[in-house]
Amino acid sequence: AVVGRRFVRKWRRRAKALAIVKEVEEKCATPIAKLRQVADAMTVEMHAGLASEGGSKLKMLITYVDNLPTGDEEGLFYALDLGGTNFRVLRVQLGGKGGGIVSQEFTEVSIPPKLMVGSSSALFEYIASKLAKFVAEEGPDFQIHPGRQRELGFTFSFPVMQTSIDSGNLIKWTKGFSIDDTVGKDIVAELTKAMEKQGLDMRVTALVNDTVGTLAGGRYTDKDVIAAVILGTGTNAAYVERAQAIPKWHGLLPKSGEMVINMEWGNFRSSHLPLTEFDHALDMESLNPGEQVYEKIISGMYLGDIVRRVLCKMAEEASFFGDTVPPKLKVPFTLRTPDMSAMHHDTSADLSVVGNKLKTIFEIQDSSLESRKVVIELCNIIATRGARLAAAGMLGILKKLGKDTLNDSEGQRFVIAMDGGLYEHYDAYSKCLEDTVAELLGEVVSQNIVIQHSMDGSGIGAALLAASHSQYLEG
Ligand code: GLC
Repeated sequence: AVVGRRFVRKWRRRAKALAIVKEVEEKCATPIAKLRQVADAMTVEMHAGLASEGGSKLKMLITYVDNLPTGDEEGLFYALDLGGTNFRVLRVQLGGKGGGIVSQEFTEVSIPPKLMVGSSSALFEYIASKLAKFVAEEGPDFQIHPGRQRELGFTFSFPVMQTSIDSGNLIKWTKGFSIDDTVGKDIVAELTKAMEKQGLDMRVTALVNDTVGTLAGGRYTDKDVIAAVILGTGTNAAYVERAQAIPKWHGLLPKSGEMVINMEWGNFRSSHLPLTEFDHALDMESLNPGEQVYEKIISGMYLGDIVRRVLCKMAEEASFFGDTVPPKLKVPFTLRTPDMSAMHHDTSADLSVVGNKLKTIFEIQDSSLESRKVVIELCNIIATRGARLAAAGMLGILKKLGKDTLNDSEGQRFVIAMDGGLYEHYDAYSKCLEDTVAELLGEVVSQNIVIQHSMDGSGIGAALLAASHSQYLEG
């Protein structure tokens, strides 16, 4: 009888755990009809954000990039790329017309977590010191025109209200950053101050978002690039808009007639987004409650933590991992998205990757094959929702540009440059994203739309924009 009772209890727990997963699955469902609603809402918000400042949750920021690289850029330029847990510094020697990139070098430095929530001067001084060190190591493969100051393109991947191509004020921090005294400040001035302190004689000639850098880098190698999407720690998109379609732009009409817009789509929200109790809790406990809602269900900083939250509920309410709740399961951000991805892709017969991750991350000593399967199912649910919603956002942009249906431009190729660690490393995610874009566009149209991985394009793109906005250029 005791054995019988034990069996019944086990069976009940299992049913309860599966019911939780099933409910998450239903709440996270993204049928095509829903994705179309999300895409339509994105298009509507794009119009509203372009119409007036503050007209939408989508900031639709004017970037002052009205010319994308042509291939004629020439000389030595530096770039600094800050936006995630690492930052990169690079130098490129551009060969001018037809010359392409002659040589390039970069280094990557991780940002001590305490600097992400400390003071503005501490962060910028740290960055400037690493930059100065890198500049000091410049070798003979790189040549600056005699008598010229070195110039830098600064990729700063946060929302910035630009006042020109080389200045702009931080609107707010996103992702894991939170430094109050930087908000509202001119980012270029902050960096310049720090560079001067290091005795580094260098001038920032372009301040760009990573999406804009990726767009510029993509365009350098492929003239059909019209938009860029980042799927990394955070998520965002930029695209080329007709200047005349930007009512809030009161400046001169650029010669090109075009302006790159940084959408800051991470802050998008809509009643059509499928949100769960876990998303609400994550949001409430985040550094920026109520903000970046779309980003929090799509991007790499958060996916793993959503999975952790569901597992935690399963442990608490259905004893999914045994009689006690593994304490680590309650600690925010213990499950990182790369670990989630590793579990999701586990194809071993005994799902030993999942077993090992559960052990090392949550100190869950033994897990049954069955429970490992459930963990994978959960990763799949959360990754699929994110990827499909990102695809819907991309459809929103194509709609805004009138490129979601067959029209006069029939047969023409349009390229969306993509970058970011999530896209690059989480295969199931990127495959789902690509499949969903194709599904949404239909076979005929999707033949014209190319998603191109533009590896580390944002740094190169910033250097290219630094070149095309050099103080030494005429006109
Ligand atoms: C966040 C930032 C945005 C950036 C994106 C991807 O959403 O606010 O500026 O482009 O992350 O890095």
